Amino acid sequence: MRVQHNRVIAEIDTLPGSSQVAVVHGVFTPPGLRGYGMGKRAQQERLEALANDFMYDAAICTVDMKNSRNIHILEKNGWKFAGCFKSRKTEHDVGIYIRGLGQTIKTIKPPKEPLMSGYAHIEQMGGDWG
Ligand SMILES: CC(C)(COP(=O)(O)OP(=O)(O)OC[C@H]1O[C@@H](n2cnc3c(N)ncnc32)[C@H](O)[C@@H]1OP(=O)(O)O)[C@@H](O)C(=O)NCCC(=O)NCCS
Repeated sequence: MRVQHNRVIAEIDTLPGSSQVAVVHGVFTPPGLRGYGMGKRAQQERLEALANDFMYDAAICTVDMKNSRNIHILEKNGWKFAGCFKSRKTEHDVGIYIRGLGQTIKTIKPPKEPLMSGYAHIEQMGGDWG
């Protein structure tokens, strides 16, 4: 389902087989409006809707690990890094992020070695893991 918050577009789908988990994807601020704080505010409104209007318990999304603006918004809004993989389709490093809705998701501690090199923000997250 396509949704709009604060003029920022997103797709929200239910994870097949797990009806309390939302998959958030296809997020974009219209070109020309990017970098003015709209995505940040939309993220907060979207999380509010996911938890309270739609009563999801958890959400999942993926992000290109080079998309530092989106990663900044995710991490600032309580999303937790769950791991990353190299896409054999795009050859991009893709991060998987999860977030509890109305509750905190327990995550495992990250390995001592970073999963992939070159992403300082992953290594900095040690204190955030429950
Ligand atoms: C990613 C996207 C949705 C973010 O929306 P936006 O409206 O541009 O983002 P905002 O202006 O709200 O971002 C503001 C925050 O990002 C931070 N930020 C901006 N550029 C940044 C960068 N290059 N690296 C890290 N943080 C950055 C700002 O400092 C601000 O955070 P703060 O308030 O804590 O200081 C938008 O840029 C977009 O549509 N990009 C193309 C599509 C895309 O990448 N979608 C995501 C797919 S997973």
